[in-house]
Amino acid sequence: MMLFHRQKLEKVLISFSRTYSNISHESLQIRDGFSGMVGRTPLVRLQKVSEETRCNILAKAEFCNGGGSVKDRAALYLIKDAEKKGLLKAGGTVVEGTAGNTGIGLAHICLALGYKCALFLPNTQSKEKFDMLQLLGVELFPVPAVALTDPNHYNQQAKRYALSIENAVWTDQFDNQANRLAHLETTGPEIWRETKGKVDAVTFSTGTGGTFSGVSIYLKEQNPHVQSILADPPGSVVYNWFKHGKLERSVGDSITEGIGQGRITGNMQGAPVDDALLISDNETVEMVFRLLGEEGFFVGASSGLNVAAAVKVAKKLGPGHTIVTCLCDTGQRYYAKLFSEAELKKRGLYEAVPEQYRHFLHSRI
Ligand SMILES: Cc1ncc(COP(=O)(O)O)c(C=O)c1O
Repeated sequence: MMLFHRQKLEKVLISFSRTYSNISHESLQIRDGFSGMVGRTPLVRLQKVSEETRCNILAKAEFCNGGGSVKDRAALYLIKDAEKKGLLKAGGTVVEGTAGNTGIGLAHICLALGYKCALFLPNTQSKEKFDMLQLLGVELFPVPAVALTDPNHYNQQAKRYALSIENAVWTDQFDNQANRLAHLETTGPEIWRETKGKVDAVTFSTGTGGTFSGVSIYLKEQNPHVQSILADPPGSVVYNWFKHGKLERSVGDSITEGIGQGRITGNMQGAPVDDALLISDNETVEMVFRLLGEEGFFVGASSGLNVAAAVKVAKKLGPGHTIVTCLCDTGQRYYAKLFSEAELKKRGLYEAVPEQYRHFLHSRI
């Protein structure tokens, strides 16, 4: 009996020490301030969808960045780029047009580095993001969501504002390739190291395209056979551009935020694209609730879209392949909208929530 217990205990201890020694040394290092909290996020094997597809579906848990989203990486590189170019001096102001997450990343880093932050946001973005930015002490300009070519578009207003004040820089996340450099120098190499080079495909939705293009460029340099699959929501121009060679919006609107770009940005220029997928809001919402109910991850819509795309890629490639994507941010940022029964019913998306996970909804009617 005693022997049995000892053997059992030894087994437990061995498996514990194996698990412990699997934690990368990088993640056990002391991080330097807020900037040190950007990147080196965990790569998670999603259990249910991997089992179902008999593939490895892996996701970088980008909500683990200090500011809570994948955009912290771009934010850090944009500020470092401005400093390097001498465009930002002590006490200066960082100005950006943003759907919210880049702004949150910038605001945190500005606090840590002693800069001021001014942001122009379309007023269609979630209340949670606005609240967060207010809390972070940002000078905030909510503006109507208009076409990119309109002089009142948030990005154009941000550019004009930066020119109108002293010691300010417009970081230009859409066209400034310092954005994709963040992913070329951090996200891509992390994925390569963490998978030990065993990656068959990556798939990401695109906002600025920084994540998609930076990771794709890096991985293709390591192994040209890694497939880069772009995944976007209804309304995306990028999907239409790749699939049909047309710079036109694809049909429909979307509950997702921060993705589904209306043009080919500077960060997407020359990005390798092997294929493009259009993921419906129904598929996205279903996956958001599956990730919560089956995997325990509370994430936003673009994460749901990314994983839904990864599953499609896995089914196309067949068992035994490894597909990498990311969980962009947390569901908390969209709680009022994406997790509201009333809101989902209004948008015709309620039925997309698997019945067994409808208990997660609030504002039930
Ligand atoms: C929630 C969310 N997911 C995905 C993205 C897309 O990232 P990228 O701009 O690198 O294409 C964004 C961009 O703002 C975002 O806010």
